[in-house]
Amino acid sequence: MSSKEEGLQPHDLPLEFAAKTFNTAHPSFRFWMSNSFPGKVYTHSAIERLLFNFPDNIAWAPYRDLVLKTRARYLELGSLYLLDRMFPGIPRAYPNRLFDEIWRMSVFGYVKPHRFESRFKEAWREINEEIPASKEVFENRDWMNDWIGKLNASRPGTYFPGWVSMEDGAFLYWAVRVLKPKCIVQTGVCNGLSSAFMVMAMERNGGEGKLYAIDFPYIYDPEDPDLNLEAVYGVIIPEGKTSGWIVPESLRDRYEVIVGMAEEELPPLLRRLGRIDLFYHDSDHSYDHMTFEMEEARKHLGPGTAILCDDVAWNQSTWDFAKRHRYPAYNYRGAIGAVFL
Ligand SMILES: C[S@@+](CC[C@H](N)C(=O)[O-])C[C@H]1O[C@@H](n2cnc3c(N)ncnc32)[C@H](O)[C@@H]1O
Repeated sequence: MSSKEEGLQPHDLPLEFAAKTFNTAHPSFRFWMSNSFPGKVYTHSAIERLLFNFPDNIAWAPYRDLVLKTRARYLELGSLYLLDRMFPGIPRAYPNRLFDEIWRMSVFGYVKPHRFESRFKEAWREINEEIPASKEVFENRDWMNDWIGKLNASRPGTYFPGWVSMEDGAFLYWAVRVLKPKCIVQTGVCNGLSSAFMVMAMERNGGEGKLYAIDFPYIYDPEDPDLNLEAVYGVIIPEGKTSGWIVPESLRDRYEVIVGMAEEELPPLLRRLGRIDLFYHDSDHSYDHMTFEMEEARKHLGPGTAILCDDVAWNQSTWDFAKRHRYPAYNYRGAIGAVFL
């Protein structure tokens, strides 16, 4: 056995390693096990929508039955886009900008990744050309990649920066640009690349906009190098740094990090904030914990807002939550789940 193989690897965990929660790195894992179909837009049947999905935040109540009935038919046929073109003034069945954007890209309820191309191209142009702080974000990311490379070359097992891919980062940036939230709550930060994408989007949105993030960080300890490898499957922050360190000083007035467990810190944080506009989960991906976080966040999210969940294929909690409350939902690349309120 080589020294690399001596450390714990993600695929060493059993296929179902917590209640209703799967190890997606396991060779036997399949997306259908968590009812997670990449690209799928989860809506409910027309009857369910007519019965349960009345958007009560809109002032056009006298017309809503007629509009919803018409809308539901067209939604079913996948022709919302055409209808919007013909009657741009008609209010939406789901008054949610992010859902609308995603629905317009869907064909028979699926969105292919390439349909994001032009949106993400514009997002990258903005990030690189219009947000000066992005340079520092990517310098910090490169430094971290270097650091982790050296660590992995010198230690058994494999350590990870534990952050979103660049595609998922672009999705988060784009979602924040579309929704224009004033208040975002995040759980699970680690080095903070996902936070950086959302904070950069809020900076580009202008005006108010703040991200409140909760994280219980695992920081590398050179005195006890194997400690964190066992505890968090190698997801790590370098010594001397802490959660969200990647977010540059110039964006810090839009960013507050709370160090602690989401189980304890999330309810008081939400109570302090009152209403929030977007919730992003990337902490403990067990079915029960994700359900807890989504239900807590829901109490503080109004119509037109959204919940985004990272690593959504680990379990089916996002789709169960959406179904329980009759919200439409979407699976971005099998990586990020979105629920539209
Ligand atoms: C995958 S990382 C987050 C990565 C980050 N979203 C990004 O893409 O840049 C998960 C983080 O959540 C933290 N975490 C796990 N369970 C937690 C809990 N119950 N409460 C707070 N933080 C938790 C881990 O320590 C780690 O820092």
